[in-house]
Amino acid sequence: MNLPNMLDAKKRTKEESKILYDDYNINEINDLGKDKKYLILTYGCQMNVHDSEYISGIMEDIGYTKTEDMNKADVIIVNTCAIRENAHNKAEGMLGRIKHLKETKEDIIVIFCGCMAQEEGLVNKIKDYKWIDIICGTHNYHKIPEYLYEYMDKGKVCEVYSIEGNVIENLPVIRDSKYTAWVNIQYGCDKFCTYCIVPYTRGKQRSRKSEDIIDEVRELYNNGYQEVTLLGQNVNAYGKDFNNDYDFADLLGEVSQTGIPRIRFVTSHPWDFTDKMVEVISKCDNIMPYIHLPIQSGSDRILKLMGRKYTIKEYLEIVRKLREKIPNVSITTDIIVGFPGETEEDFQKTLDIVNQVKYDLAYTFIFSPREGTPAAKMEDNTPMEEKKERLARLNELINKYALESNQKMLNKTYDVLILGESDKDDKYMGYTDNMKLVNVKCDKELVGKIIPVKITGVKTWSLDGEVNDK
Ligand code: SAH
Ligand code: SF4
Ligand code: F3S
Repeated sequence: MNLPNMLDAKKRTKEESKILYDDYNINEINDLGKDKKYLILTYGCQMNVHDSEYISGIMEDIGYTKTEDMNKADVIIVNTCAIRENAHNKAEGMLGRIKHLKETKEDIIVIFCGCMAQEEGLVNKIKDYKWIDIICGTHNYHKIPEYLYEYMDKGKVCEVYSIEGNVIENLPVIRDSKYTAWVNIQYGCDKFCTYCIVPYTRGKQRSRKSEDIIDEVRELYNNGYQEVTLLGQNVNAYGKDFNNDYDFADLLGEVSQTGIPRIRFVTSHPWDFTDKMVEVISKCDNIMPYIHLPIQSGSDRILKLMGRKYTIKEYLEIVRKLREKIPNVSITTDIIVGFPGETEEDFQKTLDIVNQVKYDLAYTFIFSPREGTPAAKMEDNTPMEEKKERLARLNELINKYALESNQKMLNKTYDVLILGESDKDDKYMGYTDNMKLVNVKCDKELVGKIIPVKITGVKTWSLDGEVNDK
């Protein structure tokens, strides 16, 4: 048994991370899942969504087929998120259901993985639960075939590594979409914002080789993909762990050269945003005018306590440059309210910034103390009721600007990549270049294509449109 350890997870040495091209192998256990089914439940961010695509690839590589029906599954994989308490609660609620199922169907194998599995306190709690069979973390999900084999042979497996981590290449992958794909460019995070658990659950920041990224994008394009989203906790810190000066702007330029029609990237950190990046994004037509730039707070005092290492002035300067150089750019953000010590005055500053930037969209959260992070130990006197009230005020403002930015698009025509059926009857859904969700009346044949769509209706979170073939 290998249990997670927060102190080990925090260590950062000077050693370069290893890029492992042959760490995944299934040898003689390649038909472990013959005639059997797996179900995968995913919580959390795009990184986890994409990890689940790899886990699916691995499960199918050893013979399992996918099911969405829990009652038909032989293996249930819960890929968890630890970012806030409610992410925990969701996964724990699901575990309750699985426990119940396991009481009637003993031979189901339950795998618990993802960011919660990297948490010391949590794993200490669940490691002896009889109905969880395999626990593994973010650094070793590619070993699931071995763990399944070991479990079948000897019983319970708990294998979590609190290491800085490597880059594991050459994993099989089954992607959710045929048209738009996630592409990891970097793993982990070295920023250690004081509220955040990610640097502990995902290890140090380590970049993939640009050649491997470009090869992956080329292959996706050859296979008909129209869009890639480059993924990392700090995409614009890409390459900072290399011993040369190749950076994110260089990578963007090269990815653009592959000719794939659409390139997006998340998440950018204001600290690492350079003029060179703005320049490349503005010059390359296939880099989409959409920037997710988390601000977290509008108060310099709170930003300092958060360890974000930029000031509001610097942040606004990036926004100014983006708006100046990239016409039609959408800017979205993340905001935390109720950080320890946030006063009404600090919160007003957040509202002021929202009024200035007029975001296209924002993800807003109430601060959630994470065990083992510095902010969890900071004095916090604001009652939860007041935090909720601040969140409601903030959301009202965010919604107002989201609707306003959509209204500006009415009657204009935008390129939309149609991705599939919409929940709204008879319609198909897709995204504009600036990342607005549109429900479009169109033929099924247009799924997977980029088409001009005239915006005919506007709501806060989506648009309606018609094909503009003039
Ligand atoms: N790497 C990204 C963010 C990853 S987490 C970045 O730095 O921008 C996504 C968002 O969750 C964060 O931007 C933050 O707004 C929020 N978040 C992270 N930890 C949180 C916590 N402890 N409580 C509340 N929100 C949190
Ligand atoms: Fe968390 Fe900060 Fe790293 Fe983002 S940059 S993952 S918020 S520590
Ligand atoms: Fe959650 Fe881990 Fe992502 S904590 S937000 S799944 S990196």
